[in-house]
Amino acid sequence: MSAIKKEYKRITTKSVVEMKANGEKIAMLTAYDYTMAKIVDHAGIDIILVGDSASNVMAGHETTLPITLDQMIYHASSVIRAIERCLVVVDLPFGTYQGNSKLALSSAIRIMKESGGHSVKLEGGEEIAESITRILSAGIPVMGHLGLTPQSIYKFGTYTVRAKEEEEAEKLKKDAKLLEELGCFALVLEKVPSKLAKEIAESLTIPVIGIGAGDGVDGQVLVTHDMLGMTHEFSPRFLRRYLDLYVEMGDAFKNYINDVKSRDFPNKEELY
Ligand code: KIV
Repeated sequence: MSAIKKEYKRITTKSVVEMKANGEKIAMLTAYDYTMAKIVDHAGIDIILVGDSASNVMAGHETTLPITLDQMIYHASSVIRAIERCLVVVDLPFGTYQGNSKLALSSAIRIMKESGGHSVKLEGGEEIAESITRILSAGIPVMGHLGLTPQSIYKFGTYTVRAKEEEEAEKLKKDAKLLEELGCFALVLEKVPSKLAKEIAESLTIPVIGIGAGDGVDGQVLVTHDMLGMTHEFSPRFLRRYLDLYVEMGDAFKNYINDVKSRDFPNKEELY
């Protein structure tokens, strides 16, 4: 089937809801810096997520928990300086919104004011409803995130598929409905059975963007460094690699090292 595609000069939260209504799939990728964001935006991506996966990908932490609000603002402002067209969603990091809706609002305001981001993403359902409501009341668009929520990794114990059992699947469906009712403009569903993800996407008017959630949702998101093959040690089933940059960049670095050592670089044409 050929892709349905309306031309958008700028993607807004309204555009992505419209895309779902028109049957156009939404493409989302992560970026954490100016150069990558420029390439991703110019390629025509709909949404850039400044994910707290920066904690893993950029800083080398084992989990997303250590990244701070200041660090997220630094990454998001670098991305904002690069983009011309896409919508930018910024993750609220762990510890900046759970259990305290006033703190949640002040964290979201700092993201919007200091980075210029267009919206924020929070992990969780009913338990963070008050925080979501307060953030929305300030006019800040919110994207939800359910299923595997990496900020709760120590509660889950593993990064395995969520909601395979009836009880968790029922809670997921209720939480997804609640996030729509509260006023979230979209929702990420991470690592859940594709049948369940499809059912949830079909029951909502806001777009559901999946990562490891199958083909029945309204869009897809991947971590850019993973889909480019830079992080070769990470190989979940849902990850499609479009390049093998770990190998290609490694070869380029080896060639450079050889050229320097062998005095081939710089040559006569590369001198002043
Ligand atoms: O932080 C992130 O990159 C994310 C995606 C995996 C959805 O939340």
